Amino acid sequence: MSDLDAVVHGANEVVTVDDEGELGIYEDAAVAVVDGEVARVGPSGPVKREFPPANADHDVDADGAAVVPGFVDPHTHALFAGDRSDEFEAKLQGATYQELLEEGGGILRTVRATRNASDGTLLDNLLSHLDVMLAHGTTTVEVKSGYGLDTETELRMLDVMARADEVHPVDVVPTFMGAHAVPEGREADDYVDEVVDEQLPAVADQDIAEFCDVFCEEGVFDVEQSRRVLEAGEAVGLKPKVHAEELAHLGGTQLAAGMGATSADHLLHATEEDVAAVAGTGVSPVLLPGTAFSLGADYADARAFLDAGAPVAVATDFNPNCYSQSMGFAQSLACVEMGMTPAEALVAATRNAALAVDRRDGTGTLREGTPGDLAVLDALTYVHVPYNFGVNAVDTVLKGGEVVAREGAAAHDEGVRA
Ligand code: NIG
Ligand code: FE
Repeated sequence: MSDLDAVVHGANEVVTVDDEGELGIYEDAAVAVVDGEVARVGPSGPVKREFPPANADHDVDADGAAVVPGFVDPHTHALFAGDRSDEFEAKLQGATYQELLEEGGGILRTVRATRNASDGTLLDNLLSHLDVMLAHGTTTVEVKSGYGLDTETELRMLDVMARADEVHPVDVVPTFMGAHAVPEGREADDYVDEVVDEQLPAVADQDIAEFCDVFCEEGVFDVEQSRRVLEAGEAVGLKPKVHAEELAHLGGTQLAAGMGATSADHLLHATEEDVAAVAGTGVSPVLLPGTAFSLGADYADARAFLDAGAPVAVATDFNPNCYSQSMGFAQSLACVEMGMTPAEALVAATRNAALAVDRRDGTGTLREGTPGDLAVLDALTYVHVPYNFGVNAVDTVLKGGEVVAREGAAAHDEGVRA
């Protein structure tokens, strides 16, 4: 017997995304979700006749608001311990990201805190961040390890992600990023040996990661070291992702293109050749405007990637250096600072973001036959997501047809957390 999970009706508009990455807008519309999947999207009247809301587990009156696909956040470092709010102040006084890292701050400081935290604390931290994300409309999130920088802690991080994925409605996509920084007192080459010979085989053995990422950056891992890590990852079945051209131009984008990586991320300093290489090879460019915002840096050239026909994705990059879980704010920055239209930003935050984490089952499109993941806004049109900056435009969230957030707060079996 199929189960009518939910009927969301009375929406001013329901927004879907097609295979070309174009929006489809149904006015005065409804969505029916059966067995976790979208069974019908269309005008409210006919959908309600075919799927009476009274027969559904969740009868959701959108009350004249807009309904959009649940957001997919394809790049975060959401699992960590400790607090770096004082670095925010230091950066406002002129300290640079690299200076903080060289002094043992930045990533290295979070590594110390994460190594010292218990599994319980790490899980609690991640779950509360997932709740904030969910309340802001995110239904799938990629999370990277990389605050362990040793086999034991990297494995612990991936294990905590798997546990969070089990108990929390948000889908967690796990990425191994042992090559996130060079641990204190080590040389990059020697540490890459450890990642390749020890960490990656252990991760593969436990089968708890889907992607392998590397911080290809001046003063961190060069292109050849990055290649070694990603090739060793591929050899054990992990798909490559690259942190490329974030603080300087080093060549990570060409590495990603040459390897057929799933994504190349950041791209603040990408060149015309980089844009062409990404567009020509089907690598997803993942742009992280929150990072430029928090670093006070120049933004990536989103228009160049869009003009080249690349499926531009947008992510939060949520981490202690870029402290925002909100895909709505990322879309505001995408529009105001990177010149994207609200429609381009929404596609970047949904369908294109799903492609950037290799979710090709229609996640992020809200079309018939795709996962019943959606957000009912507290506003008339989808444009309010970027337009209403600094505020959560999301009211209700459904994951696989289950109501998991209400009135802008997470509401699910794990409890209600604002
Ligand atoms: O994507 N670039 C490396 N990783 C993160 C920053 C992590 C941190 O500062 O803790 C990023 O910006
Ligand atoms: Fe990152």
